[in-house]
Amino acid sequence: MNRKDEHAALAMDFYQEKSNDFDLIRIVHDRFPEMKVADTTLAVELLNQEFPRPFFINAMTGGSQKTKEYNRQLAEVAKECNLMMATGSVSAALKDPSVADSFTIVRKVNPTGFITSNLGAGTTLDQAQRAVDLLSANALQIHLNVAQELVMPEGDRDFSQWLSKIETIVRHLPVPVIVKEVGFGMSRKMVQQLVDCGVTAIDISGRGGTSFTKIENARRPQQELSYLSDFGQSTPEALLEALEVPQIFDLIASGGIQNAYDIYKSLVLGAKSCGISGKMLHTVIHGGVEAGIQLVQDWSNELRLLMTLTGQKNLKDLRHVPVVFSGSLLEWCINREIDSKKYSMR
Ligand code: FNR
Repeated sequence: MNRKDEHAALAMDFYQEKSNDFDLIRIVHDRFPEMKVADTTLAVELLNQEFPRPFFINAMTGGSQKTKEYNRQLAEVAKECNLMMATGSVSAALKDPSVADSFTIVRKVNPTGFITSNLGAGTTLDQAQRAVDLLSANALQIHLNVAQELVMPEGDRDFSQWLSKIETIVRHLPVPVIVKEVGFGMSRKMVQQLVDCGVTAIDISGRGGTSFTKIENARRPQQELSYLSDFGQSTPEALLEALEVPQIFDLIASGGIQNAYDIYKSLVLGAKSCGISGKMLHTVIHGGVEAGIQLVQDWSNELRLLMTLTGQKNLKDLRHVPVVFSGSLLEWCINREIDSKKYSMR
């Protein structure tokens, strides 16, 4: 089977709504709202652009006929709801132009939408420019996926010069660059290194949803690396790490977002926007474009209710909502010298 088809199939086989570290965040019921639901606005500025909602369709597919159809459906949802959408890594199309249409379908369906192209770290400025040109993309995502590559039987084994290559791309590419993980999170040190390279948008994409070590291990004949299935920082842990970095940048949360409450909690912690992958693909595969659109509308309505519950009209103000951490998330804070009272007593 084509690797991209295998990834999508395994991601869906393993997909399940499960408890994750978002359950370790409790919102303090703390105020009289003194406002109406109609007072809320979901508008957010990301990559110097205004978006009507604080979530988007994150990188997934392309590279085969089947994934072309997934990309078509996802692009229909993105167009209808005015969502930013990222394609999966276009490196397959740069190597083999015969699969380019599985990515360009996204631009064809949504000629004026905000589309993000995607490539792995370790690629050159020239490749980055070609990835953008392929889709007339508005931005480029560069993904970090060491854990995935190492577990992937045919994966890369050379990770030298990633940071210097990212720096060259960020400094010279004419469109904004988002550096993202693929479900293993980041630490404050990694985020700081990226910021020092000039990166201004970072998606910490943490553990808690799709696990690429689990997916790649299932593709190994012996499946001997199952102990890495839960490798990495969870999305809340990685967000708290990133928030320790003093510089200002666009902080994006993804990894295990299953409902509007997860988005709300990510924004309360300090993310500007959230990327949705596994949940959106699952929804579209099982219910088509209509179900995808319904999900976006439902989550938007729920976010307005949640904002009203804690008396916040704007997403920016969500950062004032007090939250209490428990269990392993609190342990993480203690061991990593993150002051959890900054969040619980604000
Ligand atoms: C992904 N993801 C991904 N990320 C990336 O930067 N480039 C890629 O090509 C892919 N490919 C891909 C395929 C499939 C089928 C899935 C489900 C995911 C990773 C994705 O963008 C995200 O970081 C993780 O999936 C975590 O988010 P969820 O799935 O838990 O919401």
